[in-house]
Amino acid sequence: MSDYTITNACPVTSSGQQEQAVDIEIRDGIIDRIVPAGTADLTSFEDDEQFDAAERLVSPTLVEPHTHFFSSLTAGIPRWNQTGTLEEGWRLWNETKDGLTKQNYKQRAKKVARWFAANGITRVRTHLDVNSDERSSIGLEAMLEVREELAGFVDIQIVAFPMGCLHTGGEAKLQRFEQAMERGVDVVGGIPHREHITEDGNQHVRTVLDLAEKYDAQADLHIDETDDPQSRFTGVLASETLKRGLGDKVTASHATALHSYSNAYADKLVRLIGESGLNVVTNPMANASLQGRYDDFPKRRGHTRIRALRDNGVTVGIGQDDIVDHFHSYGDGDPLKTAFVLVHLAHMNGNEDTTTLWNMLLESNATVYGVDDYGLQEGNEGSLVVYDTKDRFDALRTQPVRPLVLRDGKPIAEATQTTAVYDGQSETTVNFDR
Ligand code: FE2
Repeated sequence: MSDYTITNACPVTSSGQQEQAVDIEIRDGIIDRIVPAGTADLTSFEDDEQFDAAERLVSPTLVEPHTHFFSSLTAGIPRWNQTGTLEEGWRLWNETKDGLTKQNYKQRAKKVARWFAANGITRVRTHLDVNSDERSSIGLEAMLEVREELAGFVDIQIVAFPMGCLHTGGEAKLQRFEQAMERGVDVVGGIPHREHITEDGNQHVRTVLDLAEKYDAQADLHIDETDDPQSRFTGVLASETLKRGLGDKVTASHATALHSYSNAYADKLVRLIGESGLNVVTNPMANASLQGRYDDFPKRRGHTRIRALRDNGVTVGIGQDDIVDHFHSYGDGDPLKTAFVLVHLAHMNGNEDTTTLWNMLLESNATVYGVDDYGLQEGNEGSLVVYDTKDRFDALRTQPVRPLVLRDGKPIAEATQTTAVYDGQSETTVNFDR
């Protein structure tokens, strides 16, 4: 725990609003005082415990609610996904995973964790293949060690991700899945639409929630990540969540089939999701490239119905999903880039959508993760990120560098970037601010 003060900072609150410049005093890792800019008590901070934000934007540190450390940075190993489809991604992962060592799992995860920190993220929920075969235990051991070894740097929630059928392929797969929970995995995952028949998919949902209740854990399922409007497991999940009173302990990730349901069924479903308290996470980068692959023209874009869900009180987070792997070969761990894609993909380019997008990036992602007391308020953790721009809209537009990231009052990332342009007469520094 450390002392630190950031002066002259313009906060974007977890609701998504931008406020007047303030000074933020952190003592023992906690936000002690937030006072008008220019009035901080600087005498109690050493020179290397002070940062002048110069009216730049500051937010609480970010939460990544959906990624996959285990497959990150495997793109091109043994070869690149040439079609860019989910189906080729699955085939390539099955070729790749047999050659991976524990050390390799750990190196890739730690590298991407550092990317996340540089972008202002201090909490990561990562879905992990825990049961596709006996070798899944290598990845599990690696990720449990990474979670421990990075504990002073970034919080990691590991999700037991079945990567396929739970109810076809023998008891061993189900046993490995539950053993992962016994070994200390945090969250129960699922993927019911990968079961062969609807009946097994429905049971898959119930099995996941049974385990969540047994281990008093959150649940987060890849669900209906397909363009098939007959894939309706999100409704089963919402109904079971409601009946069991699990509320926001449960998250539906992707839910892209909601894009393709009839409006009549979608209207019924979003109201049920709202009533159940279930969270939803959209992953616009991966799903923009993976969905609509069986369409001729017009091609569906495959993302869930964000506006309708939010209008029904549903928490909708924004996740990065795959980073440089067989399912999505792009990405650098920056949530602002993810939001930028969503602006265009989901028609969220209205000016008021700026507030919605920041609310999703901050409050919604923190709710999905289960963070208590999140936000820039006195008494909360002194974990902040400074953006090299003065305005929340420009932050979404330009995805600027993060000059400073603090975790519990301690710097974990620092950055500088200046670009000089020579126009033939003079040199000008350009930073893309308006
Ligand atoms: Fe995913």
